[in-house]
Amino acid sequence: MKYEILIVAGEEIEQYGEIEAYLVRKGFAVQCVMFAKDAYKVLRNSPVNIVISDYYLPNVSGLKFLAKVKEIKPYVELIFLSKQAALLKAIEAMKEGAYDFYEFPVNKRLLLAVVEKAVEKQLLFFEKRELETRVRDPFNSGNIVGRSKALKNVIDIVKSVSQKNVNILITGETGTGKEMVANSIHYNSPRAGNPFIKVNCGAFNEGVLESELFGHEKGAFTGAITKRIGRFELANGGTLFLDEIGDVSPATQIKLLRVLQEKEFERVGGNETLKVDVRVIAATNKKLKDLIDNGRFREDLYYRLNVVNIEMPSLRERKDDIPVLVSHFISKINDEHGYEIIGLSKEAMQIFINYTWPGNVRELENAIESAMALAKRNFIEAKYLPSFLLVAQPGNSSFFQIPKNLSLQEMENELIRLTLVETRGNKTKAAKLLKVGLRTLQRKVNGQ
Ligand SMILES: Nc1ncnc2c1ncn2[C@@H]1O[C@H](COP(=O)(O)OP(=O)(O)O)[C@@H](O)[C@H]1O
Ligand SMILES: [Mg+2]
Repeated sequence: MKYEILIVAGEEIEQYGEIEAYLVRKGFAVQCVMFAKDAYKVLRNSPVNIVISDYYLPNVSGLKFLAKVKEIKPYVELIFLSKQAALLKAIEAMKEGAYDFYEFPVNKRLLLAVVEKAVEKQLLFFEKRELETRVRDPFNSGNIVGRSKALKNVIDIVKSVSQKNVNILITGETGTGKEMVANSIHYNSPRAGNPFIKVNCGAFNEGVLESELFGHEKGAFTGAITKRIGRFELANGGTLFLDEIGDVSPATQIKLLRVLQEKEFERVGGNETLKVDVRVIAATNKKLKDLIDNGRFREDLYYRLNVVNIEMPSLRERKDDIPVLVSHFISKINDEHGYEIIGLSKEAMQIFINYTWPGNVRELENAIESAMALAKRNFIEAKYLPSFLLVAQPGNSSFFQIPKNLSLQEMENELIRLTLVETRGNKTKAAKLLKVGLRTLQRKVNGQ
């Protein structure tokens, strides 16, 4: 795997150009930007390992820049360079977590040694973290919690496909655990020791996505001031997770089809054909079949991706999982925040079970986190639940009680009656709520 270095040159673009060329020759993937704001963007969107930055950037102090870099990617090591002698500044910066600080002219071999040391430090950090997650989670599967039949079925499929080198399409509503399942498959597969690279295809526009996936050559387009290694290359030997695959444009779909079929591609603006061995796991909350019918998704690509389909059930289809998920999240959030919450009241649990969870497990997790932050005692009480949960409860004013065993006609009459009660007889308002014209409503009220 190549290590990615981000150079932030400020106004010293020439000095850094030399360093960049040198590091590329030494086998690093290097990107170079001028300004802090561009650096933040790259940090958010690419797997950067090391940042080499000028201490005196336009519009931002070195220390502020350092803090922001660490906020975006805490594990990134930052090496400052500077034209001006500034021993005190260097000491200050390193106290704040900069890895090192050098003055121009920099001895390149020395810089290389420093970069290699920083990479080593980072690898130790990753190994430690990996070890920690393994200890916490014997399957190393990102902890798929649940006891419903529907979820057990998913876990069975995950177990049986992990070992097989086939592409997988994970479908399901947002927040159902698609990414978690992709993680689990990778870490239970023979590729576990190799990279697991993720791309959110919905987060980039067409051109950017192509260079994310396939990389680009220096000068491939305006703004491509350096060569860029794409995610397919980074994932070589490992797994590439293509999230929101339904958002990929037709032109990029053709390129994806080619990598999946031929296992080869070119960087944007490049002639060299690169071979890769990548397992692809794609995910989407869209109905790809519909997109195919509308001509927005290629059927041949669909079949390449969907060798095995894992359909994630929505949370409302497996309410059995709610209690175990709740305890799982309580103990996870206790660990993260140092809380000592032991559980939740019966009433609160009932509210959780009744709710329909359109945002699925993610929404449940957020609701628990918020209730835990507001809890006044060591358990979660209904009154501290997020208001959307309370509003949605039956018996509350946003629900009508309609008797069982009514005919469709009677049900309609009852619904109209209750709506009119709600609007205190105001027919215009009632018609709006029921989304019918005023005259239609009047006709129905008059029993015509
Ligand atoms: N069965 C589960 N057990 C434990 N955590 C889960 C489960 N399903 C989802 N989660 C958690 O819910 C959140 C959303 O899951 P994610 O995989 O990002 O969903 P999706 O990719 O489908 O939107 C994540 O924090 C994930 O860890
Ligand atoms: Mg997701």
